[in-house]
Amino acid sequence: MKKLFISAALFSLCSASVLAASAFSSGEDAVEYRKHAFQLIRHNASDIGDMLQGKVTFDAARAQKRADTLVALSALPWEAFSVEGANKASGDAKAEIWADFKDFTAKADKFQQDAKALQTAASSGDQAKLKAAFATFRGNCKACHDKYKAD
Ligand code: HEC
Repeated sequence: MKKLFISAALFSLCSASVLAASAFSSGEDAVEYRKHAFQLIRHNASDIGDMLQGKVTFDAARAQKRADTLVALSALPWEAFSVEGANKASGDAKAEIWADFKDFTAKADKFQQDAKALQTAASSGDQAKLKAAFATFRGNCKACHDKYKAD
């Protein structure tokens, strides 16, 4: 009987989280989420850029840590563009995103692929390779912002 009760309680816990089915409490919450993700992307990318430009001393382990983090971060913003209430132009997100969501998604996918290539380049220990991979990775920001981000 007790066992049955526990499994019923567990089941209701699980189904509660399935019912919630979202990490976002509202459209505004989703917009905040993607903005924070982009800020974290900026911080981590800038540090690699500064190292490659000699603004700070190059540290291979630190570059690797940043690249590893960017693989995870580059996957984050996109789901928040499909959340009800966050799926229309607002702030810096232009209406063009949803007018051509396929292209926007393709750009987001390429960005994630290039983050993985950046990670591989970082682990090669070859700075020239890292520099080339970083230039490709960094090119995604402008390519997407020019079309889909205001300012
Ligand atoms: C596939 C499209 C895409 C790519 C790739 C992309 N961004 Fe963005 N970014 C956006 C959009 C759209 C917004 C506006 C989001 C909003 O205001 O809801 C944005 C917003 C930002 C913001 C402002 C966040 C805020 O606090 O308002 C920063 C910073 C940023 N991006 C940095 C970057 C950097 C750095 C890269 C590349 C390393 C990058 N983004 C790659 C689409 C992209």
